[in-house]
Amino acid sequence: MPKPTLTLTEAIEQRRAARSFKSDPIPTEILQEILRLGTRSPSGFNLQPWRFIVVQEQANKDKLRACAFDQRQVSEAPVVLICCGDRRMNRLEYIESIIQLGIDAGAMNDNYANYLRSAIPQLFDNHTSFGSLEAWTNRHTMLAVAHLMIVAKSFGVDSCPMEGFITAQVKEAFNIPEEVDVCCLVPMGYADEPFKTYGGRFEIEQVCYSETYGDRLNL
Ligand SMILES: Cc1cc2nc3c(=O)[nH]c(=O)nc-3n(C[C@H](O)[C@H](O)[C@H](O)COP(=O)(O)O)c2cc1C
Repeated sequence: MPKPTLTLTEAIEQRRAARSFKSDPIPTEILQEILRLGTRSPSGFNLQPWRFIVVQEQANKDKLRACAFDQRQVSEAPVVLICCGDRRMNRLEYIESIIQLGIDAGAMNDNYANYLRSAIPQLFDNHTSFGSLEAWTNRHTMLAVAHLMIVAKSFGVDSCPMEGFITAQVKEAFNIPEEVDVCCLVPMGYADEPFKTYGGRFEIEQVCYSETYGDRLNL
């Protein structure tokens, strides 16, 4: 099992969106670990709607670059993830697979299984906490993407989250079903120049409030 070379804090502080990559490959065991830990991300009812297409063939990366406004990192990076969210998580067989996962993990009983069988279809019918199913798939997939990028950086692997692509073109080129959303692309590998300078972040008082939206937080 490969060991991270950076601590969690270092990985978060040092991660930058890489716009150019060396051709060096990501060792397979590191890529596996990035995908394994990235998909440890949480999800509502543990539904795990994220799906990742791992693109490594140069011809496919070139095809993807053409769908992504010709952004060079897409064809330079040794690996590009097409990060998708599947809207079909309320299918009965899928709900049963989540229940079985819980049984195998020793975290499921009959009451909770029956609750899931009724609550998950209701969540999808009413979806009071999200406006559209696309918002739901994005919510979950991007959380997993955040995990992935931090894990990758902890192994010294750079990445670039990308929304600059034409969804319809990506879906057609990579056989992505209608009910699956493309949430972002993530080229991954070892960054090369040019590397954009850190753009900074707002202070926590500018983005965190106390009790009510807009009220100053004093910690
Ligand atoms: C959802 C999302 C979409 C982004 N899309 C692109 C993109 O299409 N192309 C690009 O070069 N950078 C893209 N970025 C990278 C941002 O520009 C970058 O994260 C931001 O400027 C902060 O810089 P840092 O990540 O290096 O700290 C995207 C970032 C996010 C989170």
